[in-house]
Amino acid sequence: MADRARLTASPVAPADADALIRGRRTVDQFRPGELPDSARIHEAIDLARWAPNHHVTEPWRFYLIGDRTKAEIIELNTRLLTESRGAEVADSKRQRWSAIPGWLAVNCVAHEDPITAREDYAACACAIQNLMLYLHSAGIATKWTSGAITRAPEFLRILSAQPGEYCAGLIWYGYAKRGPRSQRRPVSEVIHYLD
Ligand SMILES: Cc1cc2nc3c(=O)[nH]c(=O)nc-3n(C[C@H](O)[C@H](O)[C@H](O)COP(=O)(O)O)c2cc1C
Repeated sequence: MADRARLTASPVAPADADALIRGRRTVDQFRPGELPDSARIHEAIDLARWAPNHHVTEPWRFYLIGDRTKAEIIELNTRLLTESRGAEVADSKRQRWSAIPGWLAVNCVAHEDPITAREDYAACACAIQNLMLYLHSAGIATKWTSGAITRAPEFLRILSAQPGEYCAGLIWYGYAKRGPRSQRRPVSEVIHYLD
């Protein structure tokens, strides 16, 4: 009986879980120059790894990006954007990206079996959500980006990523400058009831 109570007891009240999940929203403007404590980011990465992952493949790899690497990524993005959309767009993005304080890439180890590969990406997505929820609980806002740069081979080279990895998400973090705005359609539209 005591064992059952231990297995079913949760340290988090449903209302707190509700507030945490609803409260985490993508933020796209951060207070410049205010970098959250790196110990907090390490804790978030540690917790991210407790995401479900089929066959316990632990497919995630985390890259904490410092100032030099951030500058290289922004430089690369500026070059790619200048080629594709012109100097003005590239320069405006350079300015926006330079003001983002926290940078973290989450890579996934690509599995040769397509089903495992799909499940491993799902596991990485769960890990990213863990990370973002924990940071949100600490007052740190995040944005998950999957823009073209995350698929550029040069991006992986800048990260010194191991062969066979791809980027599942580039996560920006910091303190929110502006409140998040996303909404959801009514839940009744996405539930199907079956007898
Ligand atoms: C796999 C994935 C990739 C995403 N990539 C981008 C992106 O490249 N640019 C962007 O603005 N938001 C991106 N987002 C964030 C979504 O736009 C955001 O989650 C959505 O608007 C809902 O807002 P919410 O996070 O506040 O609930 C991504 C989210 C996921 C799950």
